[in-house]
Amino acid sequence: MKTILCIGAGYVGGPTMAMIALKCPEYRVVVVDIDAERIRAWQSDRLPIYEPGLDRVVKAALNRNLFFSTDITSSIAEADIIFVSVNTPTKTFGQGSGRAADLQFWEKTAREILAHSTTDKIVVEKSTLPVRTAEAMERILHSGRAGVHFEVLSNPEFLAEGTAVRDLENPDRVLIGGHDTDSGRRAVAELVSIYAHWVPRDRILTASVWSSELSKLAANAFLAQRISSINSLSALCEHTEADVSEVARAIGMDNRIGPRFLNASVGFGGSCFKKDILNLVYLCDHYGLHEVAAYWEQVVKMNEYQEDRFVQNVIASMFNTVAGKRIAVFGFAFKADTGDTRESPAIRVVRGLVAERAQVVVTDPQALGNAHRDLADLGDAVTFEIDPVKAAVGAHALAVMTEWSDYERLDYRRIYGDMVKPAFVFDGRNRLNHRALFDLGFNVYPIGKKPLSHL
Ligand SMILES: NC(=O)c1ccc[n+]([C@@H]2O[C@H](COP(=O)([O-])OP(=O)(O)OC[C@H]3O[C@@H](n4cnc5c(N)ncnc54)[C@H](O)[C@@H]3O)[C@@H](O)[C@H]2O)c1
Repeated sequence: MKTILCIGAGYVGGPTMAMIALKCPEYRVVVVDIDAERIRAWQSDRLPIYEPGLDRVVKAALNRNLFFSTDITSSIAEADIIFVSVNTPTKTFGQGSGRAADLQFWEKTAREILAHSTTDKIVVEKSTLPVRTAEAMERILHSGRAGVHFEVLSNPEFLAEGTAVRDLENPDRVLIGGHDTDSGRRAVAELVSIYAHWVPRDRILTASVWSSELSKLAANAFLAQRISSINSLSALCEHTEADVSEVARAIGMDNRIGPRFLNASVGFGGSCFKKDILNLVYLCDHYGLHEVAAYWEQVVKMNEYQEDRFVQNVIASMFNTVAGKRIAVFGFAFKADTGDTRESPAIRVVRGLVAERAQVVVTDPQALGNAHRDLADLGDAVTFEIDPVKAAVGAHALAVMTEWSDYERLDYRRIYGDMVKPAFVFDGRNRLNHRALFDLGFNVYPIGKKPLSHL
């Protein structure tokens, strides 16, 4: 029985390996991490991350051919194929600080693989990395004892949080980059055969390692660019009485453009979009392509502008002051169906409101633990409440930050009754029924549309 090892049991490593284990019962799949608590959680009934449908997949394979462990050393020694899925955050120090990828966890893993390998291995880059990282990986791996061969492949992960299980079960495509050598082609064929257990062959693409690495950065840059594009137009809509939803519908029906990722909002979040674009920007600058770098950097700047504009809108609409006012923030996760709050627009919005001395109460069905940690330094200015109806009691305004479908079905008549008047709703996701809220008495401020105001 061949053994697949994955180093890094996070949002990517855990779900992807659970799916491989489920679909490929003849492989033994081991997932390791330095974080013992995370590993314990993967073995328990309460998984360390929230993803719809993930419990089912993990349960089906756990302790059958899926194992979680902290024993990195012997797991490396026993593995035939090693996926590396450690975090690659933005560097916060030294050269490239705030832009370049921090590859310290990555390099440490490479050295660990080298130190504990006595047989040939296929090493698969699962993390998102700058183009040509595989070259550095190969140099480290081949700096050790002669006779052990490491073949490095790139296999970036395109799953989206919130729909990870669906995306893994039925991916648009799987991308595998390898070298055009005998051992490279053999390794690619082996990885293709793993995915081919459940992914149609025509959706498994092979490419060069460098194209594969760049494609992941490019995909995230294009997705984020669409959001920033529609958000830039939402600002213009608010000044011209054009309605951004009508514009999005009209352009999205052009099949060269397509309808997806055209929802105007308070902005994009998540651990990847900003990080990967900044990584792309840094790479372009590194190669002297400053115009290309500036082009992509604008996508991130537009997102920050949109978040700040949201806060300015709240303040301006509430008679230019929110000091001492209670504002209920509906949703803290960066998107629905996840508890992940990394780079969530809610973080910047809450901080902006607290800077104006608002009293913020945050509610979210899955993300309050993370919200506590993200806002720990704000002290009493922020409180937390799991029940949105209770969070709204005594509030002057609701600010919707996450598109949880539950928020569309709340008893807004009751909520309105419990709020200070005039009561405001700022819908950062344009998901609520604005006309119905207006009819209940709310002053409603969507994104990219004319406000519905009684004032
Ligand atoms: N989160 C997503 O939606 C997503 C989607 C596609 C790609 N990616 C990419 O996948 C990679 C992983 O992302 P994530 O969201 O799973 O990160 P994460 O932070 O959730 O998980 C990474 C894990 O790696 C572990 N780790 C770090 N160094 C280690 C080491 N030396 N040995 C063992 N474990 C180690 C950490 O403890 C952590 O649990 C990143 O490069 C990210 O850009 C993420």
